[in-house]
Amino acid sequence: MILPILIGFSLLASLSYADNVFNYCVGDLSSPTGPSGYTCKDPSKVSADDFIFTGLRVAGNTTNTFKFGASPAFAPQFPALNGMGISMVRADLGVGGAVPIHTHRVAELLILVKGTVIGGFIDTNNRAFYKTLHEGT
Ligand SMILES: *[C@@H]1O[C@H](CO)[C@@H](O)[C@H](O)[C@H]1NC(C)=O
Repeated sequence: MILPILIGFSLLASLSYADNVFNYCVGDLSSPTGPSGYTCKDPSKVSADDFIFTGLRVAGNTTNTFKFGASPAFAPQFPALNGMGISMVRADLGVGGAVPIHTHRVAELLILVKGTVIGGFIDTNNRAFYKTLHEGT
């Protein structure tokens, strides 16, 4: 049984779309990716559906050593985020599960939807900041 569900919003500030004249750049997934993401999809072919993402409805698979599953909404899954400097991840944890240690160059916002989890990070001075989070934290 899976109790805690954690949704993490990860802000990826390293991408830009300064060379585009549009205020969005839906990624053309058939194009190669560069530092600023994918080439923009032809604007005449962009529709409202390009701005809808339902992948976060799907729980990550927690049947693994960490009891952790992630459903990402990065540009490859949600091309409307291409070059926007923002992404999201739905993170599901089984009871006793853990998110494997990883690094970020950007800020991350966690919203705990269900359950209780210890969340935190270690800064560049090796100082740990962590706290038990409850639903709605
Ligand atoms: C979840 O992962 C396990 C281990 O890899 C696999 O056996 C199982 O089929 C996966 N379940 C789903 C629903 O994908």
